Amino acid sequence: MDHLPDENRRYKDVDYWDERYRVEQSFDWFGDFSKFKHLLENLINKDDSILVLGCGNSSMSGEMYDAGYRRITNIDYSSVCVDAMAARHAHCPGMTWRQMDARQLDFPDASFDIVLEKATLDAMLVEEKDPWKVSPQTACLIHQVLKECDQRSIKSSYAAGGPPHSQPAVSM
Ligand SMILES: C[S@@+](CC[C@H](N)C(=O)[O-])C[C@H]1O[C@@H](n2cnc3c(N)ncnc32)[C@H](O)[C@@H]1O
Repeated sequence: MDHLPDENRRYKDVDYWDERYRVEQSFDWFGDFSKFKHLLENLINKDDSILVLGCGNSSMSGEMYDAGYRRITNIDYSSVCVDAMAARHAHCPGMTWRQMDARQLDFPDASFDIVLEKATLDAMLVEEKDPWKVSPQTACLIHQVLKECDQRSIKSSYAAGGPPHSQPAVSM
């Protein structure tokens, strides 16, 4: 693993992700779209407006686009990531990439039908010893992100990972 941080807590730092995305082309945490396809196809219509939180350099959004999901907005707080992904997917009209913090979404209410996240909440939980019993600070952070998502989404959110924090999302 070329990009492991010196300390786990660095997974919370945007500087770590910026550095990593300057060199790493693509990496899929927990797997790519093929692993979740059977679940997502039951939840998301092809014409739904989708927000992907902490998209990283994952192939997921590109693969969803190829599978017919055309209204995908991707955000990540790493500007290095967002610039690279926007350039890589310049041939995909309807799919957008924006540098944004999941704790403070800059979209009008009810902009999306569904919010997806894969391993983004996990990065926020990295300092917790027990994901089922998190510190008040982390609980507050996760609550803030979920509240932001709730406000901007009409149907539901889907989280791959972080089961205790992703209610009412469907979790793996
Ligand atoms: C573990 S990676 C997962 C990347 C991708 N979703 C995947 O499944 O491969 C976590 C991602 O979340 C992003 N991230 C972490 N905290 C964030 C925040 N507060 N707002 C937006 N993005 C964040 C990081 O920059 C990184 O790209």
